[in-house]
Amino acid sequence: MKSETIVSGARASGKLHIGNYLGALKQWLELQKKETTQCYFFIADLHGMTTSFNPKELSSNTLDVAATYLAAGIDPKKSIFFLQNHVLEHATLSWVFNCLTPLGELYRMTQFKDKAQSEDQANSGLLTYPILMAADILIYKATAVPVGDDQTQHIELARTVARKFNNRFGKIFPEPQTYMRKPLRIMSLTDPEKKMSKTGDEALLMDDEPKEIMRKLKKAVTATEGGKKSPGVENLFLLLEHFGTKEQTDYFRGQQKNDSLKFSELKEILARDIGNYFVEYREKKQELLGKKEYLAEVLADGANRAHKVAAQTLFEVKQKIGLL
Ligand code: TYM
Repeated sequence: MKSETIVSGARASGKLHIGNYLGALKQWLELQKKETTQCYFFIADLHGMTTSFNPKELSSNTLDVAATYLAAGIDPKKSIFFLQNHVLEHATLSWVFNCLTPLGELYRMTQFKDKAQSEDQANSGLLTYPILMAADILIYKATAVPVGDDQTQHIELARTVARKFNNRFGKIFPEPQTYMRKPLRIMSLTDPEKKMSKTGDEALLMDDEPKEIMRKLKKAVTATEGGKKSPGVENLFLLLEHFGTKEQTDYFRGQQKNDSLKFSELKEILARDIGNYFVEYREKKQELLGKKEYLAEVLADGANRAHKVAAQTLFEVKQKIGLL
């Protein structure tokens, strides 16, 4: 008996990095193993259009992220795995939620404020991004949403939307919980005050070979300002805790205490550990990228299964709100 419904996804806006892996994918793999959960994992291709994109990149990013999910261990027999745009009900429900949400609630989202600043001309999809996210989650009546720390404000909005809908039209939606083993935010290598994101040398990709990891780590900022703990160094320790052993962490923490931390040694070990961690993943991914037809089949099957549930929820919603 499945007592929990898990929903999550990642944008199709570039290759996934180790922040995406530790913040999201790793949790998904744990949840997928449980007998009591039904998981829905999708690729947020519609969200991939909220910042500047081009058609060629959008489709290749989508396939790349699909291969990443499968190579990392998402099992399409256990979990429902699909593309967001293939299940049309997401967009319809998102429209309904748009019409229930005051603009002010969207303008205060920190991700909107950050991203709108770095776009030449922010589009309205960037503003309504969390509404589509609420629809992605609520269309399957999710009970929990595994995400990294940066998404908690969006999940809170999904809870608000669910509550508002239920109060006004009658209960349909559970209020989904944010699922996090531990709030996790991996920081950018080059600007460790900011979270790691998908651009440039600031991110270690799941696909990076050890040499490439080392090249990027060499540039990682480790400077300390005014005697404060350096966020760049703490970020490296965070990675070591996840990819290395406890002995390694203790060893380098010891060096740090004595003011004798050897960054080159720490970075070398980290590059080796991260590279090794993803060896099998990288091989599987290469194999999958050569099987485009298989990927398409698996995604079509997932969309079919997702659609059945989504259509039923949308039917209930339409009845409640008076859409014929
Ligand atoms: P995206 O692609 O930006 O991120 C995918 C997942 O990775 C997590 N993440 C991080 N975790 C720790 N440290 C980081 N530096 C870091 N960067 C990203 C994110 O928290 C996320 O869990 N909007 C979503 C995609 C989405 C979604 C949904 C998620 C669309 N609809 C419905 C859950 C439910 C996003 O952030 O994608």
